[in-house]
Amino acid sequence: MNHPTSAAILERARRVTPGGVNTSIRRVEPMPVWSRAAGSRVYDVHGREYIDYHAAFGPAILGHCHQRVNRCVRETLDEIDLLGVGTTEGEIRLAEKIVQHVPSAEMALLCNTGSEATHHAVRLSRAATGRRKFIKFQGCYHGWHDYLCMNVITPRHKIGSHDPGSAGMLREAVENTIVLPFNDLDAVAQALDRNRGQVAGLILEPIPHNIGCVLPRPGYLEGLRELTRQHGVILTFDEVITGFRHTIGGYQRVSGVTPDLTTLGKSIANGYPIAAICGRRELMERFATREGGDVFFAGTYNGHPINCAAALATIAELEDGRVHRHIFRLGKRMRRGLREIVARSGIKAHVAGFGSVFLTYFLEGPVHSYEDLLNNDDRQQVRYRQLLLKEGIFKLPMSLKRSHIGGAHTEEDIDRTLSAAEDAFRRLVHGESRPVALQSVGTESGEPK
Ligand SMILES: Cc1ncc(COP(=O)(O)O)c(C=O)c1O
Repeated sequence: MNHPTSAAILERARRVTPGGVNTSIRRVEPMPVWSRAAGSRVYDVHGREYIDYHAAFGPAILGHCHQRVNRCVRETLDEIDLLGVGTTEGEIRLAEKIVQHVPSAEMALLCNTGSEATHHAVRLSRAATGRRKFIKFQGCYHGWHDYLCMNVITPRHKIGSHDPGSAGMLREAVENTIVLPFNDLDAVAQALDRNRGQVAGLILEPIPHNIGCVLPRPGYLEGLRELTRQHGVILTFDEVITGFRHTIGGYQRVSGVTPDLTTLGKSIANGYPIAAICGRRELMERFATREGGDVFFAGTYNGHPINCAAALATIAELEDGRVHRHIFRLGKRMRRGLREIVARSGIKAHVAGFGSVFLTYFLEGPVHSYEDLLNNDDRQQVRYRQLLLKEGIFKLPMSLKRSHIGGAHTEEDIDRTLSAAEDAFRRLVHGESRPVALQSVGTESGEPK
């Protein structure tokens, strides 16, 4: 990205926006400046084309700028925009769909972001139990608010203690959050015993995807369900990533374990900004959207007709299962191919994933917790991704981050990616250290460069 135009654009952005980006984690090296997206492809300002596996951190399950989703949004735009009181047909239909598909959902409320949804889950759990402490797991991310923004990618020396994600967080909020290792039921049982009668809720990503893909051990989710029930603790599955990506009802439908509350976001609307909290009626009815409810729930943009239209159109695309069958098949093809490449290379690497999600860790597997990932060779992982970027394959050039396959990817995309991966592994073995200069799989006109 040393092209003068990119540099000039970034310089312009940095003059008015700290760091030039609108989310901390968007700051990557090399820094892309995008102009267009369509299906499985993204294009930078120079018209270079990339096969996109970043998928905007996961929402683009159907592919970018999906025509039918966008058509529904356009049609809605011509009819209605934000009104701000009462309700609309779209909001009702979307809540009905969530209740229909998500096993834990007897009722649903709409908000705009995953962070809002998890914040509401924490507040509701505290209100319903009258308790103050909360349990989360090392490696899980649930958004930017003080209650849970801690201990995601934690340096080795801070494991086992609080690792707040930001300056300025309220100490009391941090101290009331108990952070435990994932996949360790004994640790949860002990923490619940030590804090008997004090823990309001336990929240987890049923598959911690914010550190790639760490699958729950058999019986782990069932064990959490049992322990939380015994201790009167409200169990929230944060399915902001897994919800609708791993099947239309979320990972709870795959695992057969039903939490009390569920948070949804990202791929429920293929990239439009909408999220939801849903769960047991008795809990959801505590929200002050209902007369007599005492848990405040608000948002100027909640249930915006455009976002509801996008979510309804996305769900309509997913309901017959074809998209999931396609992306799971491609995910399998990708992981199988990558495993063969790793085996041929002799490099210590471990291919992980579930369904449409995949990534290659640079360590010896298996991986059951964040602590196992402390052995990851982050430098090599980033280098690998930068080499792929050079070949027009866009995975986030950061360590531990997952990649996503969407409905617009094809077998040809996967095979092209595997061939680039083979080449990248070869370069890693031979220690190529030339700086990364970007090339792409083609240009906007479709001509390979
Ligand atoms: C599992 C999970 N929960 C919550 C969030 C927060 O969602 P948002 O960024 O929409 O606030 C994220 C974001 O990446 C997430 O991955």
